[in-house]
Amino acid sequence: MICKSLPGCFGIEISKIDLSSSLSNDEITNIKKLFQDFHLIVFKEQNLNDDDQLKFTEYFGELEEFPEADKTKESNKTYHVANVTVEGKHLKEEDDQVIFQKVNQRWHTDSSYRFIPSYASLLYGIEVLPDEARGGETEFVNMFKVYENLEDDLKTKLESLHMVHYYEYGRRMFPNLPPVSAFERENIPPVSHPIIRLHPDRNNKRSLFFTANAGNEIGGMKQEEGASLHSHLVDIVENSSFQYKHRWEKGDLVMWDNRCLLHRAIPYDMNKYRRVFRRTTVAGSTAIKGPFLNPENIRN
Ligand SMILES: [Fe+2]
Repeated sequence: MICKSLPGCFGIEISKIDLSSSLSNDEITNIKKLFQDFHLIVFKEQNLNDDDQLKFTEYFGELEEFPEADKTKESNKTYHVANVTVEGKHLKEEDDQVIFQKVNQRWHTDSSYRFIPSYASLLYGIEVLPDEARGGETEFVNMFKVYENLEDDLKTKLESLHMVHYYEYGRRMFPNLPPVSAFERENIPPVSHPIIRLHPDRNNKRSLFFTANAGNEIGGMKQEEGASLHSHLVDIVENSSFQYKHRWEKGDLVMWDNRCLLHRAIPYDMNKYRRVFRRTTVAGSTAIKGPFLNPENIRN
């Protein structure tokens, strides 16, 4: 196993390890430590079928199930992220499945619309764009660093605020999409999460936590006021220098920590190029903790 730091302030590339083989306890422990320290790992030159990826993902915790039956294959624990059907047909840019990919071109963390959002996502490159194609990368940003560099008065303002996250928000961006199913509406209602997130596994270190693909409302604020603050936060992330852009090669498995990174897909010519990924996701274990739940802030 060979490790190399990625450009930017987080992330590591690991090569010369075969994730489809049985890994030793020492190897798993080592990978978990690197993940905790670097937030993102790129595993190079993998050859993984569905079962290999599911098995590797399970080393990190319970698997998250996807609510959308039409975007999964045999298992509802693997997610087909592609502009190609599971049978292999290249879809037009206007197809609903492809439009769903565009929702992910906004900064987000996976499954922020759940009461307990995911811990980690693992995305495997099956068909990737050729070298000459523009776009198609996945871009990440370190939200610990973004938080640290906020102005003090903004930090104070955000301290007690929540954002409302809801799965149906994609329909506001793309109103022509079919409505959510009764199952989706029933199982994933809107939720609020603190905008400042405490990380109990890091001595309650703070990060900024919001998304741009699952809403723009801030609890307790008028809609326009909340949307304006949300848009300001998006601008800050957009212009931050704490980013890493991953240019995909076939066989890359990229694993990232949804608790402290945002990501987005970079647009590309969807009618010209096929792009096929498989995603598995490690479920989170607890609801998000905000500063108001910090024991130091509770009066005796
Ligand atoms: Fe995503």
